Amino acid sequence: MTEGPIVRPRRLRTTPAMRRMVAENRLHPAEFILPAFVREGISEPVPIGSMPGVVQHTRDTLRKAAAEAVAAGVGGIMLFGVPEEEKKDAVGTPGTDPDGILQVALRDVRVEVGDELIVMSDLCLDETTDHGHCGVLDAEGRVDNDATLERYAEMAQVQADAGAHVVGPSGMMDGQIAVVREALDQIGRDDVSVLAYTAKYASAFFGPFREAVGSSLKGDRKTYQQDPANFRESLRELELDLAEGADMVMVKPGLPYLDILKAFADEVTVPVAAYQVSGEYAMVEAAAANGWIERERAILEMLTSFKRAGAGMVLTYWATEAAQLVRNS
Ligand code: PBG
Repeated sequence: MTEGPIVRPRRLRTTPAMRRMVAENRLHPAEFILPAFVREGISEPVPIGSMPGVVQHTRDTLRKAAAEAVAAGVGGIMLFGVPEEEKKDAVGTPGTDPDGILQVALRDVRVEVGDELIVMSDLCLDETTDHGHCGVLDAEGRVDNDATLERYAEMAQVQADAGAHVVGPSGMMDGQIAVVREALDQIGRDDVSVLAYTAKYASAFFGPFREAVGSSLKGDRKTYQQDPANFRESLRELELDLAEGADMVMVKPGLPYLDILKAFADEVTVPVAAYQVSGEYAMVEAAAANGWIERERAILEMLTSFKRAGAGMVLTYWATEAAQLVRNS
């Protein structure tokens, strides 16, 4: 005579060994990509107040961070350059200057890591324009899509020349993937991959990033980044990016957009990435600093959620630490 339930899911949760064996997803260091900031003209790293533990690197400390990432088994690094304020202008000249900080940093990091770490570059104008927008402006002050595409084409070429394995167009201009692909192929760089920021939302969670890159933006990016209310619009962006030749697609931010991530992962045959952005990082660090949340558990739980939703890769400011944590677990 049995009493109570016959089927007992709890049997598979009894011990760590049992839970480990039946786990459906596991984190691996190679799927983490470290976003890193490098600032021109500084001799010591500058802490980013809203992102405790993250700094604007000097050229030197960036190389060290890249070497540490390699040692931890991290898969890639995504570089953002912060030029000297007086070099910023309306068209973002430092972004296409072969001696611009991002290009210098790409060369530095490639010397340090060779092909052991996938070196990626943010392909966008917001870090280099004096108005802080991701594109150039027309006479009325609106972001001019097609004029911006010409700048992106040039950026793709200088970034490839400087050693990027992967370029990441993140400006949400229409047609940007096609233009970047064509620009790379034109200079014989069909070996350089394009990671498309496919679904990028006009998000409050980018707040701390603006401090990280010293952005001069006033206003918002709602005429080019997506409305958080929209789901199907992301599928439209996905179709376009794939048709234009994206090698990998990304959803950004991460946690508030797991539904989009899951939809992409179910839909496509290319690798799908999630970007756990600055605001997601800041929330956990702030709560943990107050003793309100278990920091490491929260980090690993969030990273696992991206994996469960179908991400093959995650850009995370915790990449190196998380790689060490999952290795030791
Ligand atoms: C644009 C870019 C941004 C981020 C990555 N690439 C800022 C924006 O679109 O406003 C945000 C990343 C983060 O918040 O961690 N170059």
